[in-house]
Amino acid sequence: MHDLLPDEARIRRLIEGVALETFEHYGYHEIRLPLAEQSELYARSIGAGTDIVEKEVYSLHSRSQRASSARLSLRPEGTAGCLRAAIQHGLVRSGVKLWYRGEMFRHERPQKGRFRQFEQIGVEVIGMGGVEIDAELLSLGCALWRRLGVANNVRLHINSLGSANARARYERALVKFLTPRVSELDAESQRRLQQNPLRILDSKDQATRLALRDAPKLDEYWEDGDKEEFAMLRSALDTMEIDYRVDPALVRGLDYYGGLVFEWLSPDDGAQNAVAAGGRYDALAAQLGGPNAPAAGFAVGVDRLSALLGARLSREPDSGMHGAPDAYIVVPGKMELSKVLAATETLRRHAPRVRFAGPIIAGDKAQMRRARHSGAPFVLSYEQRETGKAQWRLCERGNPGSWRDIEVAELAPLLCEQGRIRRTDSMRQVLPDNPPN
Ligand code: HAM
Repeated sequence: MHDLLPDEARIRRLIEGVALETFEHYGYHEIRLPLAEQSELYARSIGAGTDIVEKEVYSLHSRSQRASSARLSLRPEGTAGCLRAAIQHGLVRSGVKLWYRGEMFRHERPQKGRFRQFEQIGVEVIGMGGVEIDAELLSLGCALWRRLGVANNVRLHINSLGSANARARYERALVKFLTPRVSELDAESQRRLQQNPLRILDSKDQATRLALRDAPKLDEYWEDGDKEEFAMLRSALDTMEIDYRVDPALVRGLDYYGGLVFEWLSPDDGAQNAVAAGGRYDALAAQLGGPNAPAAGFAVGVDRLSALLGARLSREPDSGMHGAPDAYIVVPGKMELSKVLAATETLRRHAPRVRFAGPIIAGDKAQMRRARHSGAPFVLSYEQRETGKAQWRLCERGNPGSWRDIEVAELAPLLCEQGRIRRTDSMRQVLPDNPPN
């Protein structure tokens, strides 16, 4: 678990803002889901024999319960909860396009790009299927990368797991091929041979990869419909000029997938971690007690995406992603604090991005340094005269300006008139006052 400091939080907000806008443009609607679901949901969807469910799910029990009777688990991903909600609220038959964001929890060994609490932003299309939905999801992902300027840092890998029938026949053939070679496999793959043979294809172990060299290939077992769908998708991607690689070893670590699976990998990242991943899961709705309905989606790992953006954005000044403040106020020590605060607030009504350098105790020079660093086009220096009147001095870059008597209330309109600050109503009241209780 880790803290997100302001620089990181700002990057997250940028990612979330762009994602939200892009999803809404494509007609996806937000759903907010609980942090915990019945543990059973994850065993039935992600799969009881998967690493996630076997080793990584955090289960919750109260002091009065025994750990063995835990019924709730912190969500390790969003698809299962999203589909559960769509079934429960009757959204599946009419078809929905949903998006969500939130913290997920997996008890993994923390390392680069792998955390125990991490953020995903995901989309799920439930009750609608076909190549057009697959293609839309992939173009939606690409739109997100393009808008965030990371299109050159991610590479799309696709594969098809084929129909359930094709997969079952392939698994039998794979087990038959690998059983006499079991001693050549790594310990994890030996275990998977019984429980989840397809996942062996994903092994990074050298000896296992060697043993797999002459193994039967999944695409040899595809049915005619699988071949046709995959060819149609590839043709759609080519037409949309979406770059991709077909990766026959891509099988994913969650059991609910069938048909198309995909990942966006970051080739610069030594660990080859996926920045986002997803696929079709047409059988899952019925498996969870809902109607028979196609579904597909993907989730973006925001921590990993943020790392891709972060190195670049953290080099920009404080103002990098918000735009510079409109003005910075600097106040010599003699000034009465309440007057400064009142003046700042008055200015904010006209130009919300007015910053007050503070702390006054730091002295003018330190305040001025901070103000200059902010990228504000000018600094307002405020001073109270013996006459009791306040004076403002406008300091533009390299030009200290001269003192001028002016009432605070007149200052903002004057600065607007001079085009120095933009008049904006973004601090306006958004909703009418609620009547008092
Ligand atoms: P997943 O591949 O398990 O798929 O996770 C999706 C993304 O979440 C990964 O590509 C990665 O970027 C990020 N991620 C996963 N685990 C961690 C971790 N421990 N630390 C940091 N980031 C992580 C799913 O979760 C599916 N629900 C995706 C999906 C949606 N399929 C269909 N719809």
